[in-house]
Amino acid sequence: MSENRHTPGGRISMKYDIEFLENYWMPFTANRDFKADPRMIVRGEGVYMYTPEDEAILDGSSGLFCCAAGHSRPEIAEAVYAQLQQAAYVPPFQLSQPLSFELARRVAKLTPNGLDHIFFVNSGSESVDTAMKMAYAYHYARGEGQRQRFVSRERAYHGVNLAGISLSGMVKNRQAFGPGVPGVAHMRHTWLPENRFVRGQPDQGIELAEDLQRIAMNVGPDTIAACFVEPVAGSTGVLVPPKGYLERLREICDEHGILLVFDEVICGFGRLGTAFAADAFSVTPDIMTMAKALTNAAQPMGAVAVSDRVHDTIMEASGPGLVEFFHGYTYSGHPAACAAGLAMMDIIETDRLFERASELSPYFLDQVFSLSDIPLITDIRGYGLFAGFDIKPAGGPGVRGTDFQQRMFKNGLHIKMTGDAGLIAPPLVSERHHIDKICDILRRTLAELE
Ligand SMILES: Cc1ncc(COP(=O)(O)O)c(C=O)c1O
Repeated sequence: MSENRHTPGGRISMKYDIEFLENYWMPFTANRDFKADPRMIVRGEGVYMYTPEDEAILDGSSGLFCCAAGHSRPEIAEAVYAQLQQAAYVPPFQLSQPLSFELARRVAKLTPNGLDHIFFVNSGSESVDTAMKMAYAYHYARGEGQRQRFVSRERAYHGVNLAGISLSGMVKNRQAFGPGVPGVAHMRHTWLPENRFVRGQPDQGIELAEDLQRIAMNVGPDTIAACFVEPVAGSTGVLVPPKGYLERLREICDEHGILLVFDEVICGFGRLGTAFAADAFSVTPDIMTMAKALTNAAQPMGAVAVSDRVHDTIMEASGPGLVEFFHGYTYSGHPAACAAGLAMMDIIETDRLFERASELSPYFLDQVFSLSDIPLITDIRGYGLFAGFDIKPAGGPGVRGTDFQQRMFKNGLHIKMTGDAGLIAPPLVSERHHIDKICDILRRTLAELE
C-alpha cells in the first residue's frame, strides 16, 4: 500500500512501499531499479508532466513521441467521455458505428493521395503486423502467393509483436524471443560515421538503398512481399535518411513488384513538420502504418493506410457477401478511441499543429545542434521537431544512458533514452522557451556526468 492515495490534482506527497509496487510488471523498464526509486507521474498538462509532489517535468519526448498536442487536452477528454456515455462499445465485425467512418475520412484527408483506405488497430505494433498481413494477402490475391519474404533494416523498431520484432533490428528486442517470422532479410542501417553532426538529410549514403537490390538478387525479387522502413528511424536514435535513399528504395520496389511500407508510427501527424514523412521526403509508399499522435495518445489506437491498388486487389479477390480480409481486433475502431481521434483531428486544424512544428523546427534544430560543443556528445541528428544525440558510453552499452535519463528526470526533464542515444521530440505546441529549457537542462545534466 502507499501511504497516501493521490487526489485527481495529485498534489499530496506520497511514498510507495515495495508491497504496493510488487504486482505490476512494468514494460521496457528496469523493474527492480524503478521500484527502489520510483519515478511517478500523476498529472499532465500542456508540455509538462507532474509528480505526486507536484514537481513539473518538462516533456522533451512528448511522452513516447505521442502527445503531439500536449498532455491531457480537455477537448479530447470531453469527446471520449461523451462517447462512453453514448455507446462505450460496438462490435466492429459485421456491425459498426459512424465514428469509425468519420475518423477514416478525416485521416484519409491527411494521408498522401491514393492512400485512402484506413484500417484501425489498437497500437503501432498491431499496425505493423496488420500491414504485413495485408502484403501477404495482396500478393496471394494476385496469384503471387510465393512472395512471402520481407526486407527491413538494422536498427529498425517495428513494435514488439512477434512479426514486428522479426522486422526489427534491435538485438535486445529479438534475442530472447526465438527466430520469429521466417524469410526476413535486413538491409544495413543508415547511420554513417561521416554523417556525424549533419543537420537534416545527409548527402552521403544513398548507396545503402542498393542493399534492397542485392537482397532481391540474392533470394529472387519475386519472393519478396514488402520492404518495411521507418522513413526516419526513430527509436534507435533518429536516423535521418540520406538524400535520395527513400527515392531509390521506391524505384527498386517498383522495378520488382515489391510493396513499400513506411512505418510512420512516430513520423506521422506532424513530427517532421508535415502530415507524414511521405510528404516531407516526397516519396509515397503503398502502405503506411501510424499510431501514437493519432489520438494524442489519449486512447490506444493505430491505423494502416492502404493504396487503392492494394485495397482493391484484396477486395476484388473474394466473392460477393464474403469477408475479404480475415483480420481485425475486438477493439478495432473502438468508439472511445475514434472520439479521441476525431477530437485530435480538430486540434490539428485549430492549433495548426503541422504548421507550428514546421515553423519551430529551425529554432529547435539550432538549439539542439548548439550542444555539439559538449565533449560527451558524439553525434547529433535531426529533422523537423525530432532530434537524436549520442552520448559517450561508460560502464557498458546503455549504462550511462540510463543514469543520464534518471538524472534528467531529477532535474525536471523527460527525454527518452534508447541505450546511450537520446530522442528529443517536444510536443508540437511547444514554444521557443521550452526548447531553451530542454537544451539548458540537457547541458546541465551532461555536466554532472563529466
Ligand atoms: C516506428 C514504430 N513502429 C511501431 C511502434 C510500436 O508502437 P506501439 O508501442 O504502439 O505498439 C513504435 C513505437 O515506438 C515505433 O516507433
